[in-house]
Amino acid sequence: MTVEQSPTETLQAPARDWFQRAVVYQIYPRSFADSNGDGVGDLRGIISKLDYLHKLGVDVVWLSPIYTSPQDDNGYDISDYRDVDPLFGTLEELRELTDGLHARGMKLVMDLVVNHTSDEHPWFIESRSSKDNPKRDWYWWRQPREPDAGASPRRGAEPNNWGSAFSGPAWEFDQATGEYYLHIFSKKQPDLNWENPEVRAAVYEMMNWWLDRGVDGFRMDVINFISKDTSLPDGPIADGKLFGDGTPFYIDGPRMHEFLQEMHREVFAGRTGELLTVGEMPGVTVEDAVLFTDPARAEVDMVFQFEHVALDQENGDKWRPKKLQLTELKETLGRWQEGLAETGWNSLYWGNHDQARAVSRFGDDSPQYRELSAKMLAGILHLHRGTPYVYQGEELGMTNMSFGAISDYRDIEVLNHHREATAHLGHTDAEVLAALAPLNRDNARTPVQWDASRHAGFTTGAPWIAVNPNANHINAAAQVDDPDSVYSFYRQVIALRHAEPVVSHGDFTMLLPDDPHVYAFTRALAGTTLLVLGNFSGTQQDVTLDGDALVDWGSAELVLGNYPADSGAPRLHLRPWELKVLRGGVARPDR
Ligand code: GLC
Repeated sequence: MTVEQSPTETLQAPARDWFQRAVVYQIYPRSFADSNGDGVGDLRGIISKLDYLHKLGVDVVWLSPIYTSPQDDNGYDISDYRDVDPLFGTLEELRELTDGLHARGMKLVMDLVVNHTSDEHPWFIESRSSKDNPKRDWYWWRQPREPDAGASPRRGAEPNNWGSAFSGPAWEFDQATGEYYLHIFSKKQPDLNWENPEVRAAVYEMMNWWLDRGVDGFRMDVINFISKDTSLPDGPIADGKLFGDGTPFYIDGPRMHEFLQEMHREVFAGRTGELLTVGEMPGVTVEDAVLFTDPARAEVDMVFQFEHVALDQENGDKWRPKKLQLTELKETLGRWQEGLAETGWNSLYWGNHDQARAVSRFGDDSPQYRELSAKMLAGILHLHRGTPYVYQGEELGMTNMSFGAISDYRDIEVLNHHREATAHLGHTDAEVLAALAPLNRDNARTPVQWDASRHAGFTTGAPWIAVNPNANHINAAAQVDDPDSVYSFYRQVIALRHAEPVVSHGDFTMLLPDDPHVYAFTRALAGTTLLVLGNFSGTQQDVTLDGDALVDWGSAELVLGNYPADSGAPRLHLRPWELKVLRGGVARPDR
Protein backbone atom coordinates (compact mmCIF):
# COMPACT_ATOMS: atom_id res chain seq x y z
CA MET A 1 0.00 0.00 0.00
CA THR A 2 1.51 3.30 -1.03
CA VAL A 3 -1.12 5.69 0.24
CA GLU A 4 -1.26 5.89 3.98
CA GLN A 5 -4.68 4.86 5.25
CA SER A 6 -6.01 4.74 8.77
CA PRO A 7 -6.92 1.24 9.94
CA THR A 8 -10.60 2.27 10.05
CA GLU A 9 -10.62 3.30 6.41
CA THR A 10 -8.90 0.14 5.32
CA LEU A 11 -11.44 -2.02 7.07
CA GLN A 12 -14.62 -0.04 6.51
CA ALA A 13 -14.51 1.53 3.07
CA PRO A 14 -15.13 -1.61 1.01
CA ALA A 15 -17.58 -3.03 3.52
CA ARG A 16 -19.78 0.08 3.32
CA ASP A 17 -19.73 0.28 -0.41
CA TRP A 18 -21.75 -2.91 -0.93
CA PHE A 19 -24.87 -1.77 0.88
CA GLN A 20 -24.77 1.61 -0.81
CA ARG A 21 -25.35 -0.22 -4.09
CA ALA A 22 -27.84 -2.67 -2.63
CA VAL A 23 -31.63 -2.92 -2.70
CA VAL A 24 -33.41 -4.62 0.19
CA TYR A 25 -36.67 -6.55 -0.14
CA GLN A 26 -38.86 -6.98 2.94
CA ILE A 27 -40.78 -10.19 3.48
CA TYR A 28 -43.63 -10.30 6.00
CA PRO A 29 -43.67 -14.11 6.21
CA ARG A 30 -47.23 -14.49 7.44
CA SER A 31 -48.53 -12.91 4.22
CA PHE A 32 -45.94 -13.97 1.64
CA ALA A 33 -46.58 -17.55 0.51
CA ASP A 34 -48.18 -20.51 2.29
CA SER A 35 -46.81 -23.95 1.41
CA ASN A 36 -48.86 -26.18 3.74
CA GLY A 37 -52.41 -24.90 3.37
CA ASP A 38 -52.86 -23.63 6.94
CA GLY A 39 -53.62 -20.15 5.61
CA VAL A 40 -50.43 -18.58 7.01
CA GLY A 41 -47.29 -17.94 4.96
CA ASP A 42 -44.20 -19.95 5.90
CA LEU A 43 -40.49 -20.49 5.21
CA ARG A 44 -41.08 -23.19 2.63
CA GLY A 45 -43.36 -20.76 0.83
CA ILE A 46 -40.53 -18.22 0.74
CA ILE A 47 -38.09 -20.88 -0.47
CA SER A 48 -40.40 -21.58 -3.39
CA LYS A 49 -40.18 -17.93 -4.48
CA LEU A 50 -36.42 -17.39 -4.41
CA ASP A 51 -36.15 -17.27 -8.19
CA TYR A 52 -38.84 -14.61 -8.26
CA LEU A 53 -36.74 -12.47 -5.89
CA HIS A 54 -33.56 -13.19 -7.79
CA LYS A 55 -35.14 -12.17 -11.07
CA LEU A 56 -36.32 -8.92 -9.48
CA GLY A 57 -32.65 -8.24 -8.76
CA VAL A 58 -32.73 -7.44 -5.06
CA ASP A 59 -29.57 -7.94 -3.02
CA VAL A 60 -30.87 -8.47 0.50
CA VAL A 61 -33.98 -10.00 2.02
CA TRP A 62 -35.17 -8.66 5.36
CA LEU A 63 -37.36 -11.21 7.05
CA SER A 64 -39.92 -9.96 9.56
CA PRO A 65 -39.89 -12.14 12.72
CA ILE A 66 -40.22 -15.90 12.35
CA TYR A 67 -39.11 -16.75 15.91
CA THR A 68 -41.25 -18.68 18.39
CA SER A 69 -44.05 -16.38 19.41
CA PRO A 70 -47.61 -16.33 20.75
CA GLN A 71 -48.31 -14.05 17.73
CA ASP A 72 -49.99 -11.31 19.74
CA ASP A 73 -48.33 -8.77 17.41
CA ASN A 74 -47.68 -11.20 14.54
CA GLY A 75 -44.28 -12.29 15.80
CA TYR A 76 -43.01 -8.96 17.16
CA ASP A 77 -43.57 -10.63 20.54
CA ILE A 78 -40.85 -13.26 20.81
CA SER A 79 -40.81 -16.09 23.34
CA ASP A 80 -37.68 -17.86 22.03
CA TYR A 81 -35.04 -15.93 20.12
CA ARG A 82 -33.24 -19.07 18.97
CA ASP A 83 -35.97 -21.08 17.33
CA VAL A 84 -38.48 -20.80 14.51
CA ASP A 85 -42.19 -20.78 15.29
CA PRO A 86 -43.80 -24.01 14.02
CA LEU A 87 -46.30 -21.78 12.22
CA PHE A 88 -43.46 -20.77 9.90
CA GLY A 89 -41.30 -23.90 9.86
CA THR A 90 -38.07 -25.12 11.43
CA LEU A 91 -34.49 -24.00 11.98
CA GLU A 92 -33.47 -26.44 9.24
CA GLU A 93 -35.81 -24.73 6.80
CA LEU A 94 -34.38 -21.37 7.79
CA ARG A 95 -30.94 -22.78 7.02
CA GLU A 96 -32.23 -23.93 3.64
CA LEU A 97 -33.63 -20.46 3.00
CA THR A 98 -30.34 -18.80 3.97
CA ASP A 99 -28.38 -21.17 1.73
CA GLY A 100 -30.81 -20.62 -1.13
CA LEU A 101 -30.42 -16.86 -0.86
CA HIS A 102 -26.64 -17.08 -0.61
CA ALA A 103 -26.47 -19.40 -3.60
CA ARG A 104 -28.24 -16.72 -5.63
CA GLY A 105 -25.97 -13.95 -4.35
CA MET A 106 -28.52 -12.51 -1.93
CA LYS A 107 -28.21 -11.89 1.79
CA LEU A 108 -30.53 -12.48 4.72
CA VAL A 109 -31.24 -9.84 7.35
CA MET A 110 -33.21 -10.89 10.43
CA ASP A 111 -35.58 -8.75 12.46
CA LEU A 112 -34.16 -8.07 15.91
CA VAL A 113 -36.89 -7.30 18.43
CA VAL A 114 -35.11 -6.53 21.69
CA ASN A 115 -36.85 -3.48 23.12
CA HIS A 116 -39.31 -6.03 24.46
CA THR A 117 -39.95 -9.76 24.58
CA SER A 118 -43.17 -11.71 24.76
CA ASP A 119 -44.67 -12.08 28.24
CA GLU A 120 -44.30 -15.80 27.49
CA HIS A 121 -40.52 -15.55 27.14
CA PRO A 122 -38.80 -17.52 29.95
CA TRP A 123 -36.97 -14.32 30.98
CA PHE A 124 -40.27 -12.60 31.71
CA ILE A 125 -41.86 -15.67 33.28
CA GLU A 126 -38.97 -15.72 35.74
CA SER A 127 -39.02 -11.97 36.19
CA ARG A 128 -42.69 -11.86 37.16
CA SER A 129 -42.42 -14.89 39.46
CA SER A 130 -41.23 -12.92 42.51
CA LYS A 131 -39.77 -9.58 43.52
CA ASP A 132 -36.46 -11.17 44.42
CA ASN A 133 -36.05 -13.31 41.33
CA PRO A 134 -32.61 -12.66 39.77
CA LYS A 135 -34.34 -11.60 36.54
CA ARG A 136 -36.78 -9.22 38.28
CA ASP A 137 -34.70 -6.24 37.11
CA TRP A 138 -34.61 -7.44 33.50
CA TYR A 139 -37.92 -5.61 32.95
CA TRP A 140 -39.42 -2.34 34.24
CA TRP A 141 -41.33 -3.15 37.43
CA ARG A 142 -42.77 -0.30 39.50
CA GLN A 143 -44.99 0.14 42.53
CA PRO A 144 -48.51 1.50 41.99
CA ARG A 145 -48.73 5.19 42.78
CA GLU A 146 -51.52 6.56 44.88
CA PRO A 147 -54.61 6.99 42.68
CA ASP A 148 -54.94 10.62 43.80
CA ALA A 149 -51.28 11.56 43.34
CA GLY A 150 -51.98 14.30 40.83
CA ALA A 151 -53.25 12.01 38.10
CA SER A 152 -56.38 12.69 36.10
CA PRO A 153 -59.43 11.25 37.86
CA ARG A 154 -60.01 8.84 34.97
CA ARG A 155 -56.66 7.28 35.60
CA GLY A 156 -55.78 4.50 37.96
CA ALA A 157 -52.70 3.86 39.96
CA GLU A 158 -50.20 3.23 37.14
CA PRO A 159 -46.65 4.38 37.91
CA ASN A 160 -46.95 7.12 35.27
CA ASN A 161 -49.46 8.29 32.67
CA TRP A 162 -47.86 6.83 29.55
CA GLY A 163 -50.16 5.34 26.95
CA SER A 164 -49.31 2.20 25.01
CA ALA A 165 -48.71 2.52 21.27
CA PHE A 166 -51.53 -0.02 20.99
CA SER A 167 -54.05 1.97 23.11
CA GLY A 168 -54.68 1.81 26.84
CA PRO A 169 -52.06 2.45 29.51
CA ALA A 170 -48.43 1.39 29.00
CA TRP A 171 -48.53 -0.44 32.34
CA GLU A 172 -50.06 -3.75 33.34
CA PHE A 173 -50.76 -4.68 36.95
CA ASP A 174 -49.48 -8.06 38.02
CA GLN A 175 -51.47 -9.57 40.86
CA ALA A 176 -48.76 -12.01 41.97
CA THR A 177 -46.37 -9.33 43.22
CA GLY A 178 -48.64 -6.28 43.36
CA GLU A 179 -46.52 -4.27 40.90
CA TYR A 180 -46.92 -2.94 37.38
CA TYR A 181 -44.67 -3.73 34.41
CA LEU A 182 -44.03 -1.40 31.49
CA HIS A 183 -45.13 -2.29 27.96
CA ILE A 184 -44.85 0.42 25.31
CA PHE A 185 -46.62 -1.95 22.92
CA SER A 186 -49.19 -4.61 23.90
CA LYS A 187 -49.42 -6.00 27.41
CA LYS A 188 -47.93 -9.19 25.96
CA GLN A 189 -44.80 -7.22 24.97
CA PRO A 190 -43.07 -6.19 28.23
CA ASP A 191 -40.13 -3.78 27.75
CA LEU A 192 -36.69 -5.14 28.58
CA ASN A 193 -34.60 -3.08 30.97
CA TRP A 194 -31.45 -2.27 29.01
CA GLU A 195 -29.98 -0.53 32.05
CA ASN A 196 -29.24 -4.04 33.36
CA PRO A 197 -25.91 -5.26 31.90
CA GLU A 198 -27.08 -8.90 32.01
CA VAL A 199 -29.89 -8.06 29.60
CA ARG A 200 -27.46 -6.49 27.18
CA ALA A 201 -25.04 -9.41 27.42
CA ALA A 202 -27.87 -11.89 26.75
CA VAL A 203 -28.98 -9.96 23.66
CA TYR A 204 -25.45 -9.69 22.25
CA GLU A 205 -24.89 -13.40 22.79
CA MET A 206 -28.08 -14.16 20.87
CA MET A 207 -27.07 -11.82 18.03
CA ASN A 208 -23.68 -13.48 17.78
CA TRP A 209 -25.39 -16.87 17.66
CA TRP A 210 -27.39 -15.78 14.60
CA LEU A 211 -24.41 -14.25 12.82
CA ASP A 212 -22.45 -17.43 13.46
CA ARG A 213 -25.29 -19.30 11.78
CA GLY A 214 -24.76 -17.29 8.63
CA VAL A 215 -27.29 -14.47 8.74
CA ASP A 216 -26.05 -11.21 7.29
CA GLY A 217 -27.36 -8.59 9.67
CA PHE A 218 -30.31 -7.18 11.53
CA ARG A 219 -33.19 -4.79 11.11
CA MET A 220 -33.52 -3.54 14.67
CA ASP A 221 -37.10 -3.05 15.79
CA VAL A 222 -37.81 0.28 17.61
CA ILE A 223 -34.19 0.25 18.63
CA ASN A 224 -34.17 3.87 19.82
CA PHE A 225 -36.63 2.93 22.56
CA ILE A 226 -34.06 0.83 24.44
CA SER A 227 -32.64 3.77 26.39
CA LYS A 228 -35.30 5.47 28.50
CA ASP A 229 -35.32 8.32 30.99
CA THR A 230 -35.00 6.10 34.06
CA SER A 231 -37.08 8.47 36.19
CA LEU A 232 -40.05 7.60 33.92
CA PRO A 233 -41.76 11.02 34.21
CA ASP A 234 -45.37 11.71 33.22
CA GLY A 235 -45.85 12.86 29.64
CA PRO A 236 -48.19 15.53 28.24
CA ILE A 237 -51.83 14.51 27.60
CA ALA A 238 -53.36 15.84 24.38
CA ASP A 239 -57.02 16.85 24.03
CA GLY A 240 -59.28 13.88 23.42
CA LYS A 241 -56.69 11.40 24.71
CA LEU A 242 -56.99 9.17 27.73
CA PHE A 243 -53.31 8.70 28.37
CA GLY A 244 -50.13 10.73 28.34
CA ASP A 245 -47.56 10.76 25.55
CA GLY A 246 -44.46 9.22 27.03
CA THR A 247 -42.47 9.29 23.81
CA PRO A 248 -40.19 12.15 24.86
CA PHE A 249 -39.04 9.94 27.70
CA TYR A 250 -38.60 6.58 26.00
CA ILE A 251 -37.18 7.67 22.65
CA ASP A 252 -33.48 8.30 22.20
CA GLY A 253 -32.75 8.22 25.92
CA PRO A 254 -29.43 9.30 27.42
CA ARG A 255 -27.60 5.98 26.85
CA MET A 256 -28.79 5.34 23.28
CA HIS A 257 -25.48 5.90 21.53
CA GLU A 258 -23.57 4.14 24.28
CA PHE A 259 -25.74 1.02 23.95
CA LEU A 260 -25.38 0.87 20.16
CA GLN A 261 -21.63 1.35 20.36
CA GLU A 262 -21.40 -1.40 22.93
CA MET A 263 -23.53 -3.66 20.72
CA HIS A 264 -21.26 -2.91 17.81
CA ARG A 265 -18.17 -3.79 19.83
CA GLU A 266 -19.67 -6.97 21.24
CA VAL A 267 -21.31 -8.24 18.06
CA PHE A 268 -20.00 -6.70 14.84
CA ALA A 269 -16.47 -5.49 15.42
CA GLY A 270 -13.92 -7.88 14.01
CA ARG A 271 -16.37 -9.65 11.72
CA THR A 272 -15.16 -9.44 8.17
CA GLY A 273 -18.28 -10.34 6.17
CA GLU A 274 -20.56 -7.85 4.46
CA LEU A 275 -23.16 -7.22 7.15
CA LEU A 276 -26.08 -4.80 7.28
CA THR A 277 -27.58 -3.05 10.28
CA VAL A 278 -30.59 -0.80 10.08
CA GLY A 279 -32.24 0.67 13.15
CA GLU A 280 -35.94 1.39 13.12
CA MET A 281 -36.17 4.71 14.96
CA PRO A 282 -39.54 6.40 15.30
CA GLY A 283 -39.07 10.07 16.14
CA VAL A 284 -35.39 10.17 15.20
CA THR A 285 -34.14 13.56 14.00
CA VAL A 286 -31.78 14.03 11.10
CA GLU A 287 -29.15 15.48 13.45
CA ASP A 288 -29.23 12.34 15.57
CA ALA A 289 -29.29 10.11 12.48
CA VAL A 290 -25.95 11.62 11.45
CA LEU A 291 -24.53 10.39 14.74
CA PHE A 292 -26.21 6.98 14.54
CA THR A 293 -24.92 6.33 11.02
CA ASP A 294 -21.49 7.97 11.07
CA PRO A 295 -19.21 5.00 10.30
CA ALA A 296 -16.51 6.44 12.51
CA ARG A 297 -18.82 6.09 15.52
CA ALA A 298 -19.59 2.40 14.81
CA GLU A 299 -23.30 2.30 15.71
CA VAL A 300 -25.58 1.26 12.79
CA ASP A 301 -25.31 1.52 9.01
CA MET A 302 -28.60 3.35 8.51
CA VAL A 303 -31.87 4.16 10.26
CA PHE A 304 -35.52 4.14 9.30
CA GLN A 305 -36.86 7.64 9.97
CA PHE A 306 -40.59 8.37 10.12
CA GLU A 307 -40.99 12.00 9.12
CA HIS A 308 -42.20 11.45 5.56
CA VAL A 309 -44.81 8.90 6.67
CA ALA A 310 -46.32 11.32 9.18
CA LEU A 311 -47.10 14.13 6.72
CA ASP A 312 -50.58 12.85 5.88
CA GLN A 313 -51.75 12.84 9.50
CA GLU A 314 -52.95 15.56 11.91
CA ASN A 315 -50.25 15.85 14.58
CA GLY A 316 -48.74 12.54 13.54
CA ASP A 317 -51.95 10.71 14.54
CA LYS A 318 -52.53 7.93 12.00
CA TRP A 319 -56.21 7.77 12.92
CA ARG A 320 -56.66 11.37 11.74
CA PRO A 321 -55.51 11.27 8.13
CA LYS A 322 -55.14 14.40 6.02
CA LYS A 323 -54.15 15.11 2.44
CA LEU A 324 -50.46 14.89 1.67
CA GLN A 325 -48.83 18.03 0.23
CA LEU A 326 -46.05 17.27 -2.24
CA THR A 327 -44.13 20.38 -1.17
CA GLU A 328 -43.94 19.00 2.39
CA LEU A 329 -42.84 15.59 1.15
CA LYS A 330 -40.01 17.20 -0.83
CA GLU A 331 -39.02 19.43 2.07
CA THR A 332 -38.82 16.42 4.38
CA LEU A 333 -37.03 13.95 2.13
CA GLY A 334 -34.80 16.74 0.82
CA ARG A 335 -33.77 17.67 4.35
CA TRP A 336 -32.81 14.04 5.03
CA GLN A 337 -30.82 13.92 1.79
CA GLU A 338 -28.98 17.08 2.73
CA GLY A 339 -28.48 16.11 6.37
CA LEU A 340 -26.79 12.82 5.53
CA ALA A 341 -24.94 14.02 2.43
CA GLU A 342 -21.49 14.18 4.01
CA THR A 343 -21.67 11.78 6.92
CA GLY A 344 -23.89 8.76 7.40
CA TRP A 345 -26.34 7.10 5.08
CA ASN A 346 -30.09 7.13 4.34
CA SER A 347 -32.54 4.29 4.05
CA LEU A 348 -35.31 4.92 1.52
CA TYR A 349 -38.82 3.52 1.77
CA TRP A 350 -42.43 4.25 0.84
CA GLY A 351 -43.93 1.32 2.70
CA ASN A 352 -43.49 -1.64 5.00
CA HIS A 353 -45.67 -3.92 7.12
CA ASP A 354 -46.68 -0.98 9.35
CA GLN A 355 -47.60 1.46 6.58
CA ALA A 356 -50.32 1.79 3.98
CA ARG A 357 -49.58 0.58 0.44
CA ALA A 358 -47.31 3.02 -1.40
CA VAL A 359 -49.38 3.40 -4.57
CA SER A 360 -52.59 4.08 -2.63
CA ARG A 361 -50.90 6.55 -0.33
CA PHE A 362 -48.47 8.52 -2.48
CA GLY A 363 -49.76 7.68 -5.96
CA ASP A 364 -53.17 7.06 -7.51
CA ASP A 365 -54.53 3.51 -7.28
CA SER A 366 -57.40 4.09 -9.71
CA PRO A 367 -57.43 1.73 -12.72
CA GLN A 368 -56.30 4.59 -14.97
CA TYR A 369 -53.17 5.58 -13.07
CA ARG A 370 -52.22 2.72 -10.75
CA GLU A 371 -49.45 1.29 -12.91
CA LEU A 372 -48.07 4.63 -14.02
CA SER A 373 -47.98 6.06 -10.52
CA ALA A 374 -46.52 2.88 -8.98
CA LYS A 375 -43.67 3.05 -11.52
CA MET A 376 -43.18 6.78 -11.00
CA LEU A 377 -42.92 6.26 -7.23
CA ALA A 378 -40.36 3.49 -7.70
CA GLY A 379 -38.21 5.72 -9.89
CA ILE A 380 -38.38 8.71 -7.56
CA LEU A 381 -37.54 6.72 -4.43
CA HIS A 382 -34.77 4.58 -5.87
CA LEU A 383 -33.04 7.53 -7.51
CA HIS A 384 -32.54 9.21 -4.13
CA ARG A 385 -29.21 8.74 -2.41
CA GLY A 386 -29.55 5.89 0.09
CA THR A 387 -30.44 2.21 0.27
CA PRO A 388 -33.96 1.54 -1.07
CA TYR A 389 -36.33 -0.95 0.55
CA VAL A 390 -39.08 -2.70 -1.43
CA TYR A 391 -41.97 -4.04 0.63
CA GLN A 392 -43.49 -7.29 -0.66
CA GLY A 393 -46.14 -6.65 -3.30
CA GLU A 394 -44.99 -3.08 -3.90
CA GLU A 395 -43.20 -4.40 -6.98
CA LEU A 396 -46.61 -5.53 -8.27
CA GLY A 397 -48.33 -2.23 -7.51
CA MET A 398 -50.48 -3.89 -4.84
CA THR A 399 -53.01 -1.49 -3.30
CA ASN A 400 -54.71 -0.79 0.00
CA MET A 401 -57.52 -3.12 0.96
CA SER A 402 -61.11 -2.11 1.37
CA PHE A 403 -62.05 -3.93 4.58
CA GLY A 404 -65.69 -4.03 5.67
CA ALA A 405 -66.48 -4.52 9.35
CA ILE A 406 -64.03 -4.43 12.26
CA SER A 407 -64.19 -8.24 12.29
CA ASP A 408 -62.30 -8.22 8.95
CA TYR A 409 -59.25 -6.68 10.63
CA ARG A 410 -56.53 -8.70 12.33
CA ASP A 411 -54.00 -6.15 13.59
CA ILE A 412 -53.88 -5.66 17.36
CA GLU A 413 -53.22 -1.95 16.84
CA VAL A 414 -56.44 -1.53 14.86
CA LEU A 415 -58.56 -3.73 17.10
CA ASN A 416 -57.40 -2.03 20.31
CA HIS A 417 -57.87 1.43 18.82
CA HIS A 418 -61.38 0.59 17.63
CA ARG A 419 -62.29 -0.70 21.07
CA GLU A 420 -60.90 2.35 22.86
CA ALA A 421 -62.40 4.86 20.42
CA THR A 422 -65.89 3.33 20.47
CA ALA A 423 -66.02 2.34 24.16
CA HIS A 424 -64.17 5.22 25.82
CA LEU A 425 -63.91 8.13 23.42
CA GLY A 426 -67.53 8.23 22.27
CA HIS A 427 -67.00 7.64 18.52
CA THR A 428 -69.37 5.55 16.42
CA ASP A 429 -68.26 2.35 14.72
CA ALA A 430 -68.75 3.98 11.29
CA GLU A 431 -66.65 7.02 12.23
CA VAL A 432 -63.80 4.90 13.51
CA LEU A 433 -63.82 2.57 10.50
CA ALA A 434 -63.77 5.50 8.08
CA ALA A 435 -60.88 7.18 9.90
CA LEU A 436 -58.70 4.10 10.12
CA ALA A 437 -59.22 2.91 6.55
CA PRO A 438 -56.40 4.78 4.75
CA LEU A 439 -53.44 4.23 7.09
CA ASN A 440 -54.09 1.05 9.10
CA ARG A 441 -51.40 -1.65 9.01
CA ASP A 442 -53.61 -4.43 7.68
CA ASN A 443 -53.56 -2.63 4.31
CA ALA A 444 -50.03 -3.92 3.88
CA ARG A 445 -50.67 -7.33 5.34
CA THR A 446 -53.11 -8.83 2.86
CA PRO A 447 -51.49 -11.80 1.09
CA VAL A 448 -49.10 -11.33 -1.81
CA GLN A 449 -51.03 -11.76 -5.03
CA TRP A 450 -49.26 -14.50 -6.95
CA ASP A 451 -51.89 -15.32 -9.57
CA ALA A 452 -55.59 -14.97 -10.41
CA SER A 453 -56.62 -18.29 -8.88
CA ARG A 454 -58.56 -18.72 -5.64
CA HIS A 455 -56.89 -16.84 -2.75
CA ALA A 456 -54.44 -15.36 -5.28
CA GLY A 457 -52.30 -18.50 -5.20
CA PHE A 458 -51.20 -17.53 -1.66
CA THR A 459 -52.72 -20.57 0.03
CA THR A 460 -54.82 -23.61 -0.71
CA GLY A 461 -56.49 -23.19 2.69
CA ALA A 462 -58.37 -20.32 4.29
CA PRO A 463 -56.12 -17.23 4.41
CA TRP A 464 -55.58 -15.72 7.87
CA ILE A 465 -56.59 -12.31 6.48
CA ALA A 466 -58.66 -11.63 3.37
CA VAL A 467 -57.03 -11.50 -0.03
CA ASN A 468 -57.58 -8.27 -1.94
CA PRO A 469 -60.23 -8.99 -4.62
CA ASN A 470 -58.16 -7.05 -7.16
CA ALA A 471 -55.82 -10.08 -7.25
CA ASN A 472 -57.82 -11.15 -10.29
CA HIS A 473 -55.90 -8.58 -12.35
CA ILE A 474 -53.05 -7.40 -10.08
CA ASN A 475 -50.79 -10.42 -9.63
CA ALA A 476 -47.30 -11.72 -10.20
CA ALA A 477 -48.22 -14.28 -12.86
CA ALA A 478 -49.51 -11.51 -15.09
CA GLN A 479 -46.44 -9.34 -14.57
CA VAL A 480 -43.24 -11.35 -14.34
CA ASP A 481 -42.85 -11.84 -18.09
CA ASP A 482 -44.60 -8.68 -19.21
CA PRO A 483 -41.94 -6.09 -20.11
CA ASP A 484 -44.36 -3.23 -19.39
CA SER A 485 -45.45 -4.40 -15.94
CA VAL A 486 -44.77 -2.71 -12.62
CA TYR A 487 -42.60 -5.73 -11.70
CA SER A 488 -40.48 -5.29 -14.84
CA PHE A 489 -40.16 -1.60 -14.09
CA TYR A 490 -38.80 -2.40 -10.61
CA ARG A 491 -36.31 -4.72 -12.29
CA GLN A 492 -35.15 -1.83 -14.48
CA VAL A 493 -34.88 0.59 -11.58
CA ILE A 494 -32.90 -1.89 -9.51
CA ALA A 495 -30.63 -2.73 -12.45
CA LEU A 496 -30.00 0.98 -13.01
CA ARG A 497 -28.67 1.34 -9.45
CA HIS A 498 -26.37 -1.62 -9.98
CA ALA A 499 -25.09 -0.28 -13.30
CA GLU A 500 -24.74 3.44 -12.59
CA PRO A 501 -22.45 4.65 -9.82
CA VAL A 502 -24.19 8.04 -10.02
CA VAL A 503 -27.36 6.39 -8.65
CA SER A 504 -25.65 4.83 -5.66
CA HIS A 505 -23.01 7.44 -4.97
CA GLY A 506 -23.89 10.70 -6.71
CA ASP A 507 -24.66 13.99 -4.98
CA PHE A 508 -28.31 14.91 -4.59
CA THR A 509 -29.76 18.36 -5.32
CA MET A 510 -33.47 19.08 -4.89
CA LEU A 511 -35.03 21.35 -7.54
CA LEU A 512 -38.38 23.17 -7.65
CA PRO A 513 -39.14 22.87 -3.91
CA ASP A 514 -42.30 24.99 -4.25
CA ASP A 515 -43.84 23.17 -7.22
CA PRO A 516 -47.02 21.48 -5.89
CA HIS A 517 -47.05 18.72 -8.54
CA VAL A 518 -43.54 17.99 -9.79
CA TYR A 519 -40.81 16.19 -7.84
CA ALA A 520 -37.49 17.17 -9.42
CA PHE A 521 -33.88 16.61 -8.48
CA THR A 522 -30.47 15.95 -9.92
CA ARG A 523 -27.83 13.39 -9.08
CA ALA A 524 -24.26 14.09 -10.08
CA LEU A 525 -21.04 12.16 -10.02
CA ALA A 526 -17.81 12.64 -11.94
CA GLY A 527 -19.16 14.38 -15.03
CA THR A 528 -22.46 12.48 -15.14
CA THR A 529 -25.66 14.25 -14.17
CA LEU A 530 -29.08 12.69 -13.99
CA LEU A 531 -32.22 14.80 -13.90
CA VAL A 532 -35.12 12.99 -12.24
CA LEU A 533 -38.65 14.29 -12.79
CA GLY A 534 -41.83 12.83 -11.34
CA ASN A 535 -45.33 14.14 -11.91
CA PHE A 536 -47.37 13.59 -8.74
CA SER A 537 -50.60 14.58 -10.47
CA GLY A 538 -53.11 13.39 -13.03
CA THR A 539 -52.63 16.52 -15.15
CA GLN A 540 -49.94 17.55 -17.66
CA GLN A 541 -47.05 19.57 -16.24
CA ASP A 542 -44.41 21.69 -17.92
CA VAL A 543 -41.17 21.87 -16.03
CA THR A 544 -39.19 25.09 -16.04
CA LEU A 545 -35.76 24.78 -14.53
CA ASP A 546 -33.94 27.82 -13.30
CA GLY A 547 -30.31 28.76 -13.76
CA ASP A 548 -29.07 26.03 -11.46
CA ALA A 549 -29.74 23.36 -14.01
CA LEU A 550 -26.47 23.48 -15.87
CA VAL A 551 -27.41 21.23 -18.71
CA ASP A 552 -29.33 21.57 -21.94
CA TRP A 553 -31.90 18.98 -21.01
CA GLY A 554 -33.91 19.47 -24.22
CA SER A 555 -31.77 16.93 -26.04
CA ALA A 556 -30.75 14.75 -23.12
CA GLU A 557 -30.92 10.98 -23.28
CA LEU A 558 -33.95 9.38 -21.60
CA VAL A 559 -32.46 6.74 -19.32
CA LEU A 560 -35.71 5.61 -17.77
CA GLY A 561 -39.37 6.50 -18.18
CA ASN A 562 -42.74 5.01 -17.35
CA TYR A 563 -44.55 5.82 -20.61
CA PRO A 564 -44.22 3.64 -23.72
CA ALA A 565 -41.23 4.48 -25.91
CA ASP A 566 -40.74 8.18 -26.09
CA SER A 567 -42.55 9.61 -29.08
CA GLY A 568 -40.52 12.75 -29.35
CA ALA A 569 -42.50 14.51 -26.60
CA PRO A 570 -40.62 17.52 -25.25
CA ARG A 571 -38.16 16.45 -22.59
CA LEU A 572 -39.38 18.84 -19.92
CA HIS A 573 -43.06 18.12 -20.40
CA LEU A 574 -44.68 15.53 -18.15
CA ARG A 575 -47.84 13.58 -18.80
CA PRO A 576 -50.04 12.39 -15.86
CA TRP A 577 -47.92 10.57 -13.27
CA GLU A 578 -45.01 10.51 -15.68
CA LEU A 579 -41.46 9.71 -14.57
CA LYS A 580 -38.42 10.76 -16.56
CA VAL A 581 -34.80 10.12 -15.75
CA LEU A 582 -32.58 12.09 -18.13
CA ARG A 583 -28.85 11.83 -18.50
CA GLY A 584 -27.06 15.13 -19.05
CA GLY A 585 -23.46 15.84 -19.52
CA VAL A 586 -23.37 18.73 -21.92
CA ALA A 587 -23.15 22.00 -20.05
CA ARG A 588 -24.74 24.95 -21.77
CA PRO A 589 -22.04 26.81 -23.72
CA ASP A 590 -22.94 30.16 -22.15
CA ARG A 591 -22.21 28.88 -18.65
C1 GLC B 1 -42.13 -2.01 15.14
C2 GLC B 1 -42.66 -3.04 14.17
C3 GLC B 1 -44.12 -3.18 14.39
C4 GLC B 1 -44.35 -3.68 15.79
C5 GLC B 1 -43.67 -2.78 16.81
C6 GLC B 1 -43.55 -3.46 18.13
O1 GLC B 1 -42.62 -0.75 14.92
O2 GLC B 1 -42.33 -2.67 12.88
O3 GLC B 1 -44.71 -4.05 13.47
O4 GLC B 1 -45.71 -3.74 16.06
O5 GLC B 1 -42.36 -2.42 16.45
O6 GLC B 1 -42.63 -4.51 18.05
